Amino acid sequence: MGVSPRFASVLDRIAAEIAAVPDRDRGRPADYIPALAEADPGRFGMAVAELDGTVYGVGDWRRPFSAQSITKVFTLALVLSRDGEALWERVGREPSGNPFNSLVQLEYENGIPRNPFINAGALVTTDRLQALTGGDASGALRDFLRAESGNPGLDFDEKVAASEAAHGDRNAALAHFMASYGNITNPVPELLEQYFRQCSLEASCADLALAAGFLARHGIRADGSTLLTRSQAKQINAVMLTCGTYDAAGDFAHRVGLPGKSGVGGGIIAVVPGHCTLCVWSPGLDRRGNSVAGVAALDRFTTLTGLSVF
Ligand code: DON
Repeated sequence: MGVSPRFASVLDRIAAEIAAVPDRDRGRPADYIPALAEADPGRFGMAVAELDGTVYGVGDWRRPFSAQSITKVFTLALVLSRDGEALWERVGREPSGNPFNSLVQLEYENGIPRNPFINAGALVTTDRLQALTGGDASGALRDFLRAESGNPGLDFDEKVAASEAAHGDRNAALAHFMASYGNITNPVPELLEQYFRQCSLEASCADLALAAGFLARHGIRADGSTLLTRSQAKQINAVMLTCGTYDAAGDFAHRVGLPGKSGVGGGIIAVVPGHCTLCVWSPGLDRRGNSVAGVAALDRFTTLTGLSVF
């Protein structure tokens, strides 16, 4: 008989509380990309990955979903690991206070996006990863997630990628606009294809909690090798805390008190540095694009366990 995982009863309690929330209070799946609109808002999963790679969860914690903007964390980590500080000359690290796909600040700020987690900043980060990997940024990302999660089947959802591309005018506008300032180096159509493929990665709560483990291990990968310096891991966690949930980052920090990164597929990863990583998924979103049940579940987790960065 194994020992019961340390947060198993907390997860059971949270899942029971979420199950009692009526459908009308769970938000709505993203509808601006038709392939995402089909998600069932009744789904809920939550996983905890311990530092040693033990992972457990409740509900739909092993069901793959569209990782979307959660992938922006991993793209940033891959760029920092290969390229050190250079990225910060092209992307800032301040909260934007604007929606994730906003264009308005870019002209005032000469084509330099506020941070790597809004779409504009993620496009610049992907542009850099594309150059660093000889043109296969999305492949590098997929391979990294496969290695860290131990799931060799983790892959893109081609239907979602095609849907993103067909409804990608705003991302195309962001990329072309930044190219006009010289802040995009690859041809924009190639960059957009890579960006949309990244967003379409399908992964489960278990996969993403495990893949984010290096952020709780101060930069150390699942196999014990070093991805990031301790300082770089701190930097990513800090930017997640201040910018990871867009114009709701202040509210998220207030409620949850952990570095977190959301995606419009309804997933959120969160990091308790030195302790564990979490991933929660429920497709119903609030008006800022964050999972309603996901934020509520993380809020309850830190309240019930007393774990936060504060
Ligand atoms: O760029 C987009 O429109 C999406 N594919 C990704 C956006 C996303 O997940 C933003 N987050 N909450």
